[in-house]
Amino acid sequence: MADLTRRDFISISSLAATGMLGGLAMRTGEVFAGQGVPNSPPEYQLPALSYSYEALEPYIDKTTMMTHYEKHHSAYTKGLNTAVRAIADARDKGDYSNIQQLSRMLAFHLGGHLNHSIFWHIMAPKSNGGGGEPQGNLADAIKNEFGDFTRFKAHFSAAAKSVEGNGWCALVWHPAALRLMILTVMNHQDLIVLGSQPLLIIDVWEHAYYLKYRNRRDEYIEAWWNVVNWGNVGVRFSMAL
Ligand SMILES: [Fe+2]
Repeated sequence: MADLTRRDFISISSLAATGMLGGLAMRTGEVFAGQGVPNSPPEYQLPALSYSYEALEPYIDKTTMMTHYEKHHSAYTKGLNTAVRAIADARDKGDYSNIQQLSRMLAFHLGGHLNHSIFWHIMAPKSNGGGGEPQGNLADAIKNEFGDFTRFKAHFSAAAKSVEGNGWCALVWHPAALRLMILTVMNHQDLIVLGSQPLLIIDVWEHAYYLKYRNRRDEYIEAWWNVVNWGNVGVRFSMAL
């Protein structure tokens, strides 16, 4: 997919503001659940997968994909809708006695929903562009920040392996720091630097790999590089810029 220009991004933002996110989803390969318009809070939904459950075999197995998508991601989406409704209800009643719990609930489930929505789209079957190395501006930026792709990959893999318990590892662009960074994330939302734009993320919760790889997270990470959709990651980088 061709890189998106700044004008494209502004245009996309306008579409988002008017609730025409269906077109945006088609345009970027990203799925933004909900069709939000003012005075009509969105009901978040599972995004459609663009490949079958078995398409990422042998690197990610069919059962893991199905369970991950239908059970885990689905639960975060439902939890997000529940959190949004509970917070709206608290506002209506002027009862903020549980606001600390509700705020965390919102961040956890929104993080879970968005992270997974990105995760599905930054992967592709090998037969459809998965694997390999980044191209174009992204390749240049990775070389500039990390030295070369091999050094970047080693850093990212080590960071992903190091996540304590449940979490994610992400390559982000930060528009104020003006650089690529590799960040680790606890749960779905902790340790994130505000304003970071996620480009490439890997789920290292055990539900993402345990059925096939058991406790061998490093083997899962090494296999996952074979299904990274660098075309999608490159578009995300162009949009972030
Ligand atoms: Fe997950």
